[in-house]
Amino acid sequence: MQETVLKQEFNFSDQDFWNISRMVTNHSGIELPENKKSLVYSRLVRRIRTLNLQDFGAYYNLVQDGLDQGDDAEFLKLIHAITTNVTHLFREYHHFEHLEKTLLEMMTNQKRITIWSCAASIGAEPWSIAMVVDNCLKKRPNCEVKVIASDIDTEVLSKAQEGVYDVNPEVVEGNPYLKKYLNLLNTDSDAHKPLHHNLYVIAPALRKHVEFKTINLLHNWQKKLPQPIHFVFCRNVIIYFSRKTQQQLFEKVSSVMQSGGYLYLGHSESLMGVSDDYENLKKTIYKKK
Ligand SMILES: C[S@@+](CC[C@H](N)C(=O)[O-])C[C@H]1O[C@@H](n2cnc3c(N)ncnc32)[C@H](O)[C@@H]1O
Repeated sequence: MQETVLKQEFNFSDQDFWNISRMVTNHSGIELPENKKSLVYSRLVRRIRTLNLQDFGAYYNLVQDGLDQGDDAEFLKLIHAITTNVTHLFREYHHFEHLEKTLLEMMTNQKRITIWSCAASIGAEPWSIAMVVDNCLKKRPNCEVKVIASDIDTEVLSKAQEGVYDVNPEVVEGNPYLKKYLNLLNTDSDAHKPLHHNLYVIAPALRKHVEFKTINLLHNWQKKLPQPIHFVFCRNVIIYFSRKTQQQLFEKVSSVMQSGGYLYLGHSESLMGVSDDYENLKKTIYKKK
């Protein structure tokens, strides 16, 4: 096969690409096939400039040396640069309707319930869950419900903890949860500027429900979580993993889940050929057998 060295600001040989691709897959599960070469270039070029490195080969060596010495700081920056963190509040609304209905049912005979958002990104998913939880707890005040929000990427998790989102006011108006649990942000420093009409912060009452953790789904994370887990939101992350990595992940997920608990996947994800431990209730909604 002919070597394609991209004629750009920095040298990026096929060897450099495959070294980075293999390192990313080995440490995060994310697959980077050949057609991602230009994406990897465009997403990492800024790191190479910032770190004043000569080329992609030098960047690979720096990240790999860090990992070899148990320091994953630059690797996490690399992951942050190449992963897609796209998310929004109440993405796939039907999952949250299903959560509300089944959570209320479960709360009648279960006093402690744990919900895990395992690829939480900037937090839109766990805060949406927390809104549903807060509402359900008003109807069943004797229960305790904990939401655990985790991600491999520490940068997105700190944004998640801020809980600030840019939302169209019409969307807020049209969603009773958002109307109730989002507050328009107007800080003192904004006093003389036009209002950021679209910037909202989550209501303080939600903060007590959510706990944030850094978890790499590829690792053995089971001991980091309370068990059993009753609901798992694993949405729009396994799409980046190989079938084998998905199988290994759901073996672990299944082992920590309560029988009768629910699992939600992203719109283009499925457990077909991945795990037999779940009953498929509807597209992307599964029940642990
Ligand atoms: C597209 S976002 C999904 C956000 C949210 N679940 C949703 O569906 O709206 C994918 C997230 O998966 C995270 N991710 C990728 N590989 C991961 C891994 N090995 N362990 C944990 N999180 C990972 C990324 O950091 C990113 O925040």
